Amino acid sequence: MRAAPPARQFLRATFDPLTPSERRKKPARAVCDHRAVGEPERAVVDWAVRTLCPGGHLADIRDLHEHVGPWLLLCADPAGAEVFSGILRVGSDDGSSAKVGEYVRTEAAALRIAESSGIKAPRLLGLDANGAETGRVASLQTVLDGETLAQKTYSRSRLRSLGAQLATVHQINIKPSTHLPVRQRSLEPGEGWLAERHLYAGSPRWAAGERLFGEAEAELARHPRPADRVSLVHGDAWIGNVMAVDDRCAGLFDWGCAGVGHPGIDLGHTRLTAALSFGMKAGDDVLAGWEAEAGEPLFSTAYWDVIGALLTPPDIGEKTDARDEFLIRALDDLRNRRRDLYGEPSRTHWNEPKSSS
Ligand SMILES: Nc1ncnc2c1ncn2[C@@H]1O[C@H](COP(=O)(O)OP(=O)(O)O)[C@@H](O)[C@H]1O
Ligand SMILES: [Mg+2]
Repeated sequence: MRAAPPARQFLRATFDPLTPSERRKKPARAVCDHRAVGEPERAVVDWAVRTLCPGGHLADIRDLHEHVGPWLLLCADPAGAEVFSGILRVGSDDGSSAKVGEYVRTEAAALRIAESSGIKAPRLLGLDANGAETGRVASLQTVLDGETLAQKTYSRSRLRSLGAQLATVHQINIKPSTHLPVRQRSLEPGEGWLAERHLYAGSPRWAAGERLFGEAEAELARHPRPADRVSLVHGDAWIGNVMAVDDRCAGLFDWGCAGVGHPGIDLGHTRLTAALSFGMKAGDDVLAGWEAEAGEPLFSTAYWDVIGALLTPPDIGEKTDARDEFLIRALDDLRNRRRDLYGEPSRTHWNEPKSSS
């Protein structure tokens, strides 16, 4: 039997086909726009199989996100003795895929940096950046072990491990480039939270949320945008884009919104999504892990928490109360900071009426 090339040895996977009911199972977070439905075209799959296991054949392909990919690919070597796995992502530059081509190119650029910097992330196995081989924009990457943090229960040490992992990303100083441009917030250039945006639009909570957001935007405008740090940022570091094994963070994936910006861009988004799933303390665990690894405090946490919360739609359903609590806490901190810095009067709670004195 021909030995697998060394670079692919660690891709060996147990071949374990899904049952029809497992195939129908919906993923936890539906944020795709369903423009493209179905499996990737033959040319794309053939390219991925060639890249993963030259001479081998496709053993199975599993959709990981409601017909728009990414896809888990299982390939058997020519002798059928070993199975290799990879994650295939597909985009296009003409709007015919759910993901834009630039998303795939950005992720590939970030994964290259992650590999050269020793960051825990999938390794890039192949990229068809302009469709020369597949007619699409396609990438193939290694499969991370584990379950996402969003699938797990609360664990202080796991959340601290995530914070520490983010700090390693934020130690990377790179210049902005074509595929890793300057980022002002998470989820650029898209919108994110698409399912929630469509589900609750126009509800009574929506109007209340919009009023709170208006106050938040007014407060943000009174603060200079923090510019003390700049680094590589993941750009969508919500807890569903992080794999964990046991109590440790095993790697960040889904880097299509990566770029260069303030680390708070990631931290506000991560802290919010952790708090929505596990309570406010979870966001503080993430920050504690980050600060321990970075060896210094993040001075502008509240500012970035507000930025993170403003990315949600005004009503996100059952988690709206938690989102409001997260946002109001951050606004209180921002106001207190303004009082400390400029001697302006503060309020103990954001929604308290102004005193007439
Ligand atoms: N490199 C990877 N290793 C293991 N699983 C992955 C990897 N990339 C994606 N996945 C799985 O596919 C799911 C969807 O992938 P993701 O990259 O987050 O795309 P999207 O957010 O567009 O759905 C993830 O929740 C995860 O379970
Ligand atoms: Mg994702």
